[in-house]
Amino acid sequence: MITGRHLVEPGDFSIEELDELFVLAERIEADQSYLRESCRGKLLATLFFEPSTRTRLSFEAAMMRLGGNCLGFAEPGSSSAAKGESLADTIRMAASYADAIVMRNPKEGAALLASRYSAAPVINAGDGGHHHPTQTLTDLLTIKRLRGAPGSAALGGALTGLTVGFCGDLKFGRTVHSLAKALSRYPGVRFIFISPPELRSPEYITRDILIKAGASVEETDSLEKVMGELDVLYMTRVQRERFFNEEDYIRLKDTYILDGEKMSLAKRDMIVLHPLPRVNEIAVEVDRDSRAAYFKQAQYGMYIRMALLASILGAA
Ligand code: CP
Repeated sequence: MITGRHLVEPGDFSIEELDELFVLAERIEADQSYLRESCRGKLLATLFFEPSTRTRLSFEAAMMRLGGNCLGFAEPGSSSAAKGESLADTIRMAASYADAIVMRNPKEGAALLASRYSAAPVINAGDGGHHHPTQTLTDLLTIKRLRGAPGSAALGGALTGLTVGFCGDLKFGRTVHSLAKALSRYPGVRFIFISPPELRSPEYITRDILIKAGASVEETDSLEKVMGELDVLYMTRVQRERFFNEEDYIRLKDTYILDGEKMSLAKRDMIVLHPLPRVNEIAVEVDRDSRAAYFKQAQYGMYIRMALLASILGAA
């Protein structure tokens, strides 16, 4: 039961609890009227201290589709954070008005801190370069739906034997950190990290989590060399907002551009994921390739957030 619980990082829910969420999301996808009024009378606070399109809008759409309502802010300048109010006080207030809180914040650890001051469940919608657990739920549901055996309830089977390539900014990309950590809980996943040396995945992910869990981990700077081995290619944007200087960003931003030529090296059933927004790292021509799954992935994000909210609010 995840009713009333916080979601700060992917490991907060057990594998069995995740499977229940995926099954619920698939049921909602199949029957859009399912749980439609289940959150009537409930309020969701969406507190976004950083920009967002998908996460905020899909949470708000999810809550409204469940019959509930939303309140909040989309940028901190319109809240009393601009006057110097502490995060702890902001959270105490939001928890006294709403039944659950979704928060994005540029500081690593902000969601954990918020969870300690909140009387209502806190859902981490991204804390700096640290974690983005609901993007991970979205990514896992997408892999299950597109690579899993039809009708299979458990995610684990869909992941066994998969080679997953993460490409781009693996240093600052919180979606990479969250997804890699989540996948490390399932045996049989092979990880290939593709990045320039400056943007390698931090050792607290590769060494302390993946290798410690017994996963197969490889690192390379060449996408072309490994393209033919991948079952899932997880492309990422170079995170301009987390760089210390603009010159480094400009030098690194176009290191990898996935285009039709590179796609010709891939397996016919490989899928391309991207948490979005994309900048330059996937050429628009790839959108027409049946293996491009990133827009479908964003749509699954709404279904899994409906399942999450209904479960956390005790409405499922
Ligand atoms: N994937 C994701 O977090 O997108 P947004 O920044 O638009 O919310």
